[in-house]
Amino acid sequence: PNIILLGPPGAGKGTQARRLVEERGMVQLSTGDMLRAAMASGSEMGKRVSDVMARGELVTDEIVIGLIEEQMTGAEAGTGFIFDGFPRTLAQADALGALLERLGMGLDAVVEMRVDDAALVARITGRFTCGNCGEVYHDVTRPTKVPGTCDVCGATDMKRRSDDNADSLRQRLMEYYKKTAPLIGYYYALGQLKRVDGLAEIDEVARAIAEILDAPA
Ligand code: AP5
Ligand code: ZN
Repeated sequence: PNIILLGPPGAGKGTQARRLVEERGMVQLSTGDMLRAAMASGSEMGKRVSDVMARGELVTDEIVIGLIEEQMTGAEAGTGFIFDGFPRTLAQADALGALLERLGMGLDAVVEMRVDDAALVARITGRFTCGNCGEVYHDVTRPTKVPGTCDVCGATDMKRRSDDNADSLRQRLMEYYKKTAPLIGYYYALGQLKRVDGLAEIDEVARAIAEILDAPA
């Protein structure tokens, strides 16, 4: 199946996407990860987006739609695509619909991960990520077994994101409510919206998403 994980910054989209990759062989398409990779590579585009991202604003539709198009036409679909952090505007949602149609694919579910705003600050400010394999951790809710060492790959190169500070988070939330939240109504109207409680424990959220994926269409 092809699914969208929709939710505010810190809702747990990346965390659940990685589990679906591991457990089901799906393919994660995270525009945030693609943009951070472009920044790390020092490309022209990476340089152009780095300030915008650090401030917590959205980059242009043109750039992210281009990235998704490139990945979808290039990548193996595995057992399905997980759109993580995309689409984020109505124009991106329309573009995704057109792209899927052109590739002869459909969209099976849009999973809205609901969380309480107050919880997001704690989620975001406690987050760190393995610089080698990308595994996502949290100081309190998902620490590494050995401090500073990745459980998955053993690397000791933990990173914190430049946009994970209180000011940028406020801006990211504002962008979410102004530009992305309307997609909840959009996909509801298309009959594709499903909801999970993103405040539950990571395993429980994973179970709720699995139930949606395994439900007969
Ligand atoms: P992006 O990388 O997409 O960031 P985001 O949407 O802000 O989402 P996050 O990665 O912050 O959160 P998440 O929901 O993945 O949560 P996570 O699993 O890490 O975008 C970054 C920037 O790129 C944007 O601001 C924009 O500038 C640009 N951009 C990207 N896509 C774009 C687009 N389509 N259009 C325009 N611009 C775009 O979890 C968070 C923390 O909580 C972790 O520490 C985790 O361990 C913990 N946690 C997760 N689940 C649970 C749980 N159930 N219980 C307790 N703790 C949990
Ligand atoms: Zn790792």
